[in-house]
This record gives sequence, C-alpha cells and structure tokens, in this order.
Amino acid sequence: MADARPLNIPIIIGTVRRGRMTAHAARFIFGELSKYAGVATELIDIAELPLRTDDAGEATKDPGFSAKMNEADALVIVSPEYNHSIPGLLKHVLDSCLKEYIHKAVGVVGVSAGPFGGARMIENLLPVLRELGLVAIFWDVNFGNVSKVFDEAGNLLEPAYVRRAEKFLKELVWMAKTLRYGRENIPAG
Ligand SMILES: Cc1cc2nc3c(=O)[nH]c(=O)nc-3n(C[C@H](O)[C@H](O)[C@H](O)COP(=O)(O)O)c2cc1C
Repeated sequence: MADARPLNIPIIIGTVRRGRMTAHAARFIFGELSKYAGVATELIDIAELPLRTDDAGEATKDPGFSAKMNEADALVIVSPEYNHSIPGLLKHVLDSCLKEYIHKAVGVVGVSAGPFGGARMIENLLPVLRELGLVAIFWDVNFGNVSKVFDEAGNLLEPAYVRRAEKFLKELVWMAKTLRYGRENIPAG
C-alpha cells in the first residue's frame, strides 16, 4: 500500500471568536501533525473564509473551501464547546459541502473552559459528521480547563498532551490511509 502522494489532512479552526483559545489548540495539533512523514497539513480558519450568511447549505459553498475538502484525505476539526455544542458558524461552514467529504476520515479536538474538554460538543457533532459522509475515529483530544493548558502566547503548559495528540493522530493517519485505499480501489456499493 505504498503511496508516494502525501496524505492531505487539513485542520479546521472551528470558531471566529476574538481571543479564542481554540486557535492555540489548533496550532499545537498542526505542529504535531507536521512532524509526520508523508502527511501534508494546513490550518483552515473559518474566520478567514468568505462566509455567506444570506443562504444555507450547498448554496453557500465557497470554491476555495470546497476544493480543500475535495483534496483532503482526512480532517481534524478543532472546536470549542459553546452551550454544549459546536459554534453555529462552524456548522454553517460544514453544511456548505457534502460530496467532498464522503468516505474521508475525521478526528475531533474539543476545547473548553470547563473540565470536560468539549466532550459534550463532540457527542453533538458526531451525528452531523456521519450525515456528511465522514468517518469519525474513536479517539478525541480534549483540552479541558484550557486556560491552564496554554499560556497567552499559545505555549503548551501540560506536556501530557503530546502523548494524547500522538495517539489521536496515529489513529487518524491509519484511517486516512485505509479510506484512501478504499476510495481508490474498492467500488462503492
Ligand atoms: C457562546 C459560548 C458558549 C459557551 N459554552 C460553554 C460550554 O457549554 N461549556 C464550556 O465548558 N465552556 C463554554 N464556553 C467557554 C469556552 O469553552 C471557552 O471560551 C474556551 O476558551 C473555548 O472557546 P474559545 O476557543 O472561544 O476560547 C462558552 C463560550 C461561549 C462564547
């Protein structure tokens, strides 16, 4: 199953809030994923997308975001927990594509001020991901009490997250490879 093409795994920053701690978590995951040989990654900041809010669903598709989703083999979604769910604008962005996601892997990183690391947000996001055709892995990374995990400059204060990120990313890379093989070699039923 050797493949010369790198796996393409972009990381979505799932909130536009000014001062968001989620950006620190996303940059940390970006740094860890960048260490993997054979993986190409980038940060996609939903705050930088030309978001249309005068319509919904695929009518709001941004060609740039759509192309990135088409090219992706897997996604990492880094999202805060807002009232136990995902930010509305993240849902709006995810809803703008559909066929772009099908049979691709996704891993979710939760970020919260509270102790549960976005666990309730993740539980609410999973059925959405399934409906979009994405395949969620069974590891998450949970940044609970996030103001104690990163300093204001975004430096990681809790080294245990390096091992947690590794477990998560190894599984995601495996699933990305497996699903790429399936998309390219096994006819869909
Ligand atoms: C609208 C809104 C709702 C929130 N709801 C929750 C929540 O349900 N649980 C929680 O632990 N933190 C909640 N928070 C706090 C965020 O978890 C906190 O801001 C954290 O830093 C992650 O979000 P950030 O990337 O916006 O900083 C909420 C914040 C906002 C702005």
